[in-house]
Amino acid sequence: MENSALEKNYKRFLVTSALPYANGPIHIGHLAGVYVPADIYVRFLRMNDEDVVFIGGSDEHGVPITIKAMQENVAPQEIVDRYHTIIKKSFEEFGISFDIYSRTSNKIHHQTASEFFRKMYDAGQFVEKVTFQYYDEATSHFLADRYITGTCPFCNYEKAYGDQCEKCGTSLNATDLINPTSVLSGNAPVMKETRHWFLPLEQYESWLKEWILVDHKDDWKTNVYGQCKSWLDQGLQPRAVTRDLDWGVNVPVEGADGKVLYVWFDAPIGYISATKELTNDWEKYWKDKETKLVHFIGKDNIVFHCIIFPAMLKGEGTFILPDNVPANEFLNLEGDKISTSRNWAVWLHEYLKDFPEKQDVLRYVLTSGAPETKDNDFTWKDFQSKNNNELVAILGNFINRTLVLTEKFFGGVVPLQGELTSLDKETLDSMQHFPGRIAASIHHYRFREALAETMNLARLGNKYLTENEPWKLFPTDPERVGTILNISLQICAQLSIVAEPFLPFSTEKIRQMLNLPFMKWKDAANLDWLGAGHRLNPAALLFGKIEDQQIEAQVQKLHDTKKVNESKTVQHTPMKAAIEYDDFAKTDIRVGTILEVEKVAKTNKLLKLKIDTGIDVRTVVSGIAEYFEPADIIGRKVCILVNLATKNLKGIESQGMILMAENPDGKLFFVNADEGAINGSTVK
Ligand code: MF3
Ligand code: ZN
Repeated sequence: MENSALEKNYKRFLVTSALPYANGPIHIGHLAGVYVPADIYVRFLRMNDEDVVFIGGSDEHGVPITIKAMQENVAPQEIVDRYHTIIKKSFEEFGISFDIYSRTSNKIHHQTASEFFRKMYDAGQFVEKVTFQYYDEATSHFLADRYITGTCPFCNYEKAYGDQCEKCGTSLNATDLINPTSVLSGNAPVMKETRHWFLPLEQYESWLKEWILVDHKDDWKTNVYGQCKSWLDQGLQPRAVTRDLDWGVNVPVEGADGKVLYVWFDAPIGYISATKELTNDWEKYWKDKETKLVHFIGKDNIVFHCIIFPAMLKGEGTFILPDNVPANEFLNLEGDKISTSRNWAVWLHEYLKDFPEKQDVLRYVLTSGAPETKDNDFTWKDFQSKNNNELVAILGNFINRTLVLTEKFFGGVVPLQGELTSLDKETLDSMQHFPGRIAASIHHYRFREALAETMNLARLGNKYLTENEPWKLFPTDPERVGTILNISLQICAQLSIVAEPFLPFSTEKIRQMLNLPFMKWKDAANLDWLGAGHRLNPAALLFGKIEDQQIEAQVQKLHDTKKVNESKTVQHTPMKAAIEYDDFAKTDIRVGTILEVEKVAKTNKLLKLKIDTGIDVRTVVSGIAEYFEPADIIGRKVCILVNLATKNLKGIESQGMILMAENPDGKLFFVNADEGAINGSTVK
């Protein structure tokens, strides 16, 4: 990839990050895939004095929101208000430095999206069509997008949505699904006529091919380019941009009552509305070719940002197009796909409760394992080891050793840099190369690489200290120790600059210890920030060790989630018809104890039990032999139905029935009374 920012001589940057659906809080997958990389990029640009705006906001329309509202039986507005607030707070807490975090239920957004549609409509850029759509007769709803699920025709995933398969990422039409089912009623839908507006994507195909497959062949990431190419190779189809729903931006056309813009039509326009809300000067960011527009997104958003939205922008005609769309792949959690509905996630607001003030640890772990080129797995073990073995042992340790030694030997005042050895010169020389290398990686959206290089600078520092052993030299050569610590302190200062985009909370602490102001990226090339005599502040620990128990607690939490999910997915037998108490009162159930057990000959299932029921000792034949060994159940307390008509089983007279709980898989368990209930007690 070439450095297009420099090549094309852009004057300013417009950086957007996908607007998360306000139907749930955000989790580590969001952070790793989109917001941390975008934030690193933007912080870096700002440190380079670039003119940049960083846009974020909540996506508050679409079926994900209305489904959540339906599940909770509240208005959609209540859902989006709740989650917008939670999401916005999480972003603030993790230092995602948006210039604006807006929302698509805002008036300014409705206006902007409406005008955008109307302009294209007036220019005849949509095709109006009456088509058959799935309709749920039980609830009288057209089943747009996620209101319908079925089997993906491409990968056979059974829970694909009407607009997209989340398994293979393919964008779908509801009619593509095999075995379509209404989310509302669980019924198979019927077909019903409805009128909609379509964006004729096929008309943009040759232009898109040129723009993506030729112009961006070398500067878009392979995963992004590959997805686009496969789309374009398949050939583009007209795509409906309106829906029969009552939540969203109304279609601004006469006679379109009950219809709204498709959420994927309005949401990306949200980037524009948010910029308008931020500054009156918004057009300079959106309409001047000297602006570099970069969209940070996850892989499920690629087609919308690389094909559909650009086609919209091109159709509208006055906006610039993205220069790059550095989409990431997915982050999994402990080997399983992160899922809001299955609660399989590490939620940001919960993380901070368990690991207060450890935002940078998570930013670090998520960046160093970011799914930049392929899906990646987050594990708590890895989180712990990256904290303990990298942040604590490398970065924290270096800064701490340098500051503590300076305090100890020089009273916290920067010592003079004296005569330089060849190792000093080599070290100063290596330092010189770090800012440029880190910058180049960031420019190319290779944030993992940039962070690894930043840690290499801390490694250089550690190695320098270890090889020089200043703690041993002080009694004999304090001047030499001064030089060593001076150079180590310059490394600390350089770290405080180059680590800023990744670890903004920690670099703030380092600056405070070093008594330095916030610096610019260009200052990182200067190797003499801390002149002799500069007074430092006392050393404080940057990172703390994370203990095994903390990690075990997190793993346990996930285990519990898995259990809850498993119990939710079992199919229980349906409830029987209602009865009166009198019906139940006819049964006589007693607490009893098993006295003797033997297998019934020539059967696999039957055990012959002798039971003390309190009122007598009787024989019961019970079909539990597959689940229990006779010897194991002698002496057990049980509940027994004593007034059941006797029955002859394999020649034995059975005088009652033992109560058993049966799991959906057929496994049996005894039902017994708590300690203290005596034989003969009645169960009612
Ligand atoms: N809400 C979408 C999602 O979470 C992303 C919307 S991005 C935008 O997948 F471009 F539409 F804003
Ligand atoms: Zn699929």
